[in-house]
Amino acid sequence: MDAQAVLRGLLVLIVNVVLTAAEFNRVCFYSGWSLYRDRKLGLAPEDIDPYLCTHIVFAYATLDDTGTQLRAPDGYETEELNLFRRFHSMRSKNEDLTMMLSVGGWATDSKLFSKTVSSEANMQRFAEEAINYLRKHDFDGLDIDWQFPATRGSPPEDVQRFYRFLRLLQWEFEHEEEPDDKSTLILTISVDPTVERASMSYDLPRYSRWVNWINMKMFDFYGHWDDPSIANHHSALYSAHDPKNVNNLSRYWVNKGVPRHKIVIGLPMFGRSFTLANTNYTQPGAPTIGAGSDNGDGYPISQLCHLIKNGAREMMISDKRVPYTIVGDEWIGYDNPESIKQKARIVFNNFLGGIMIWTLDMDDYRGACGRPYPLMNAALDGLHARHGYNELITNAKQDQAQQAAAKKEIYRQRALGWQMQDQQEKIHSQQRGGRGRGW
Ligand SMILES: *[C@@H]1O[C@H](CO)[C@@H](O)[C@H](O)[C@H]1NC(C)=O
Ligand SMILES: *[C@@H]1O[C@H](CO)[C@@H](O)[C@H](O)[C@H]1NC(C)=O
Repeated sequence: MDAQAVLRGLLVLIVNVVLTAAEFNRVCFYSGWSLYRDRKLGLAPEDIDPYLCTHIVFAYATLDDTGTQLRAPDGYETEELNLFRRFHSMRSKNEDLTMMLSVGGWATDSKLFSKTVSSEANMQRFAEEAINYLRKHDFDGLDIDWQFPATRGSPPEDVQRFYRFLRLLQWEFEHEEEPDDKSTLILTISVDPTVERASMSYDLPRYSRWVNWINMKMFDFYGHWDDPSIANHHSALYSAHDPKNVNNLSRYWVNKGVPRHKIVIGLPMFGRSFTLANTNYTQPGAPTIGAGSDNGDGYPISQLCHLIKNGAREMMISDKRVPYTIVGDEWIGYDNPESIKQKARIVFNNFLGGIMIWTLDMDDYRGACGRPYPLMNAALDGLHARHGYNELITNAKQDQAQQAAAKKEIYRQRALGWQMQDQQEKIHSQQRGGRGRGW
């Protein structure tokens, strides 16, 4: 190969990188309970920045007792429809947004999913009902977060039944006569990508054939639930010794044969907190006696950022390349903008499918500690997607500016019209010999 060919190849590569950079999926989960967590401070759907993400996923819907029908989330049925409608109001600002519904999560009994996949008839019924439900509530796709096949009352056969279920569902989605101006429904799954869990609960390389992509939750690797309980970061970026980290797990799934463009890396917008057994021992790995002040629910960055801003020292776990802090007897492992950016860079450098954000409403979306959405913006930086984002923002602003200008012009024309009428009237009245009104 001569030097010119190499250069040409390089150029093509660079052009491709630049072209695809803005096209990574940015799949943002929004928790329906955000407003219920804190009515005043929760992120309202209409306040979400509609340009940060390519897909926004509402979490979670659940299942009825037969496992064949989607049901609105438990706990706020009466407001359910209104919440969906408000959620979709984002489309009026960015019509390119894809809005999805996720079913499952920890609160949905694994046995219900087991019923869904227990027979061909149930799978079929689920597919039909799901299509109706999604269309009725104006969603563009479905995410399935079954925690987990082959556990919590689900038998080992469910791993292969889940495969048949996904195949059937994708087939039904593809053969739906979709409404005018709507596209084929998207199908994704959200999974725990650790090798232990995956080898028990999934067959991801085979599943990947029938889903548009897989949301890999690269967090909650460790927590207060571990025995023995030690201060351990829940979402390491690297590690030479522990394979539970974003770098190694991404590589693992590529090597296992999941297509790169279907691997979407989950990024946590929260830390995990522990209560130290002895405040004299605070190093990573120190003994703990359970969850910290987050009560095991996770520590949203929107709250955590205040600790750092108020002087809590940020320390790095050098081989894992993620930060932690200590406040009193509390040990908190979390992500900062730099570690999030590096995680997103793994997606960029390895041509993976994109990033998944868990969840948008836990980032500092108000900018109470600085710039709004610090982690989400850091992720955009890591993907080199800021360009696309800025363009969208600029276009939207231009659209608004253009609309405003057009309105102004109409008013100007009207005003001109009135002026002209006034002038004509003046001329008329002059022609009439200066006789004014009143004759
Ligand atoms: C993780 O990946 C790195 C290379 O980036 C490798 O050196 C290391 O051995 C891997 N660690 C494990 C535990 O697999
Ligand atoms: C921590 O260390 C100090 C000084 O060495 C000691 O006085 C104290 O008892 C220790 N605290 C605990 C809880 O062990």
